[in-house]
Amino acid sequence: MSDNSNNDFRREASGASDHDIQVVHGRMLANQEEPKEGYSLMPLFMLGFVSTMIFLVAIYFIHNRAGLSEGLGLATQIQDKRFNPDKHMPDDTVVAIDPIAVGQRLYAQVCVACHQVNGMGIPGAFPPLAAVDYVTGDEDRLINILIHGLQGPMEVNGVQYNGLMPAFGPSGTYNWSDEQISYVLTYIRQEWGNEASEITVERVAEVRAATADRTTMLTAADL
Ligand code: HEC
Repeated sequence: MSDNSNNDFRREASGASDHDIQVVHGRMLANQEEPKEGYSLMPLFMLGFVSTMIFLVAIYFIHNRAGLSEGLGLATQIQDKRFNPDKHMPDDTVVAIDPIAVGQRLYAQVCVACHQVNGMGIPGAFPPLAAVDYVTGDEDRLINILIHGLQGPMEVNGVQYNGLMPAFGPSGTYNWSDEQISYVLTYIRQEWGNEASEITVERVAEVRAATADRTTMLTAADL
């Protein structure tokens, strides 16, 4: 460097000679790798691999369009079912219903408000369904109570009640089907330690038909 008489850095920069610049650049370049000629192995391999995959996937798509839904996710399968029900849901497919599970849901929707989750009711207001002969005893009497409802004074396991049990047949506001009545009754006959037989849909239909002309609720005298 020459002629560096004052401290102005711009003067200093412009005052650098060609030689100075070459020396500085030379030091910087000395630490860098020389660029190589040709290709290194790894990028070449990746290029070949990716090209092959694209090629194979293209062939797969062309030949397997029909079977694609099996190879892809659920969404495609559900869509496929909607568009081609014959292929995925043959006519003889039967969807099995678990009466206890459905009955439990019905109980939780309606009966639970009065008879409670544990089936113990509320003493003096709503009678229990656990360990009660009306529930585990005579099938037809139980079906009758559900279809026509029950009101007036009665005694359950030594406790007096005088309330109103809504009808679940056509005369009440619920108007449950034979299935719904049979499921909820089967559920309460086998819950909370109760171990009574299933109430079949057919039995409910029979009792419904046999008592079709009844227009009033049951009372204790009818039981
Ligand atoms: C609005 C409250 C209420 C609802 C909802 C209700 N019950 Fe009752 N239930 C009663 C009352 C009150 C009695 C007693 C009637 C009386 O005092 O004459 C009773 C009596 C009964 C009895 C006969 C007595 C006994 O303890 O076994 C059975 C069985 C019964 N209910 C089953 C059910 C089932 C099953 C459901 C749901 C599908 C249901 N009840 C929904 C209030 C209700």
